[in-house]
Amino acid sequence: MDKFIIQGGGRLKGEVTVGGSKNSSLPIMAASLLAEGPSRIKGVPGLADIRHTMALLEELGAEVRRDGDAVDIEVHDEADSHARYDLVRKMRASVCVLGPLLAKRKKARVAMPGGCAIGSRPIDLHLRGLRALGADIQLSGGDVVASAKRLRGASVFLGGPFGSTVLGTANVMMAAALAEGTTVIESAACEPEVADLADYLNAMGARVNGAGTPRVVIDGVESLRGAEHTVIPDRIESGTFMVASAVSNGEVTVKNARMDHMMAVVDKLRQIGAIVETSNGGLEVASARRLEPADVTTQPYPGFPTDLQAQLMTLLCLADGNSVITEKVFPDRFMHVAELLRMGANIRKEGPTAIVTGVRKLVGAPVMASDLRASAALVLAGLVADGQTTVQRVYHIDRGYESIERKFAQLGGDVRRAAE
Ligand code: EPU
Repeated sequence: MDKFIIQGGGRLKGEVTVGGSKNSSLPIMAASLLAEGPSRIKGVPGLADIRHTMALLEELGAEVRRDGDAVDIEVHDEADSHARYDLVRKMRASVCVLGPLLAKRKKARVAMPGGCAIGSRPIDLHLRGLRALGADIQLSGGDVVASAKRLRGASVFLGGPFGSTVLGTANVMMAAALAEGTTVIESAACEPEVADLADYLNAMGARVNGAGTPRVVIDGVESLRGAEHTVIPDRIESGTFMVASAVSNGEVTVKNARMDHMMAVVDKLRQIGAIVETSNGGLEVASARRLEPADVTTQPYPGFPTDLQAQLMTLLCLADGNSVITEKVFPDRFMHVAELLRMGANIRKEGPTAIVTGVRKLVGAPVMASDLRASAALVLAGLVADGQTTVQRVYHIDRGYESIERKFAQLGGDVRRAAE
């Protein structure tokens, strides 16, 4: 297991390039199970979660090969439709093979993902959506066991108590692509990753309209062919570097960051006093003064993303006054709070809300990464704290950020990887 040793201080300056979106790549790779013939997905980041997905697809009879930033996928053997617990346990997103397997192979057995550090994470909406398309779904030995002769288009409502579901929308969309007739998903997730998946499905010959809005219409087709597709840039990696620039009073150009995907984040950064401009091929974030506090509520897209809540909390720990952060997507996603307290932050948690009172400085300390985005928040805290911070269990970070220490080094940050 590796840890990061971080020397704080210093402003981050320069240019950093973000990679392709992890959360686009995962369902898009799963969608390749629907195809006849080879697919090539480009811009796929080199992350642990991607390697897990490659291993899962291989277990499901695909030949999967990485070639630079591209991944080639071709299914040769459809006999095995079982996504086993040891892989699903490592990565919840494995659940998005359920829709493609069911549609293409008429059956799927997928281990039920458990909870994780950010909450209980049920999949009831995924199952409700697939049942509406005519799937028979049972739970057996901890696995979801699904079958259907041929799925049939239907009206599906995917709203839940915390909004829609991103991977649930992906699952239903992928299944509906090969269903008989038309499916209408109401209260679909509007995340850019859903629209990216629809673009890939359409390149494969699917007929998906409206993805990126709450109403997606899918006219089922008889078969899909392999296709080539480039995934969108990772908006959470983009946002992490943008927040890093602001909290360090830095001046960083985040290349590939897309303004149209980052509106809520840009709006919040400007509100707290950072300057954000489009700059050739990305977004530049600069700040030269102590930042203002803010009230932030995480929401489904286009609202402020839950995946940047922890990083923004680090920033607000150093703002001039009281901020209120309310988590409306994953109400228990606050594992970073206790670690930030170890670094001298002043945060009080009340249910799904954290009240953050800005302090003059954070102080380096040994801290523990608990999940992907919480770990990123701790790295940001380490970069601006006085003295040395060690972040243990950085395998969480490696799930979602490619070479984060090298990218921070490029900006003048001192983050070293060492064996624990
Ligand atoms: N929910 C239900 N029932 C369901 C599905 C979800 O009640 O059947 C609830 C969840 O518990 C949560 C809310 O609905 O409260 C939203 O969950 P969603 O299903 O949208 O999350 P997800 O699709 O499992 C993706 C990302 C997450 C990101 C969320 C929200 C991937 C691989 N993961 O998860 O990313 O936080 O959407 O935007 O796309 C990350 O990258 O660090 C990460 C956790």
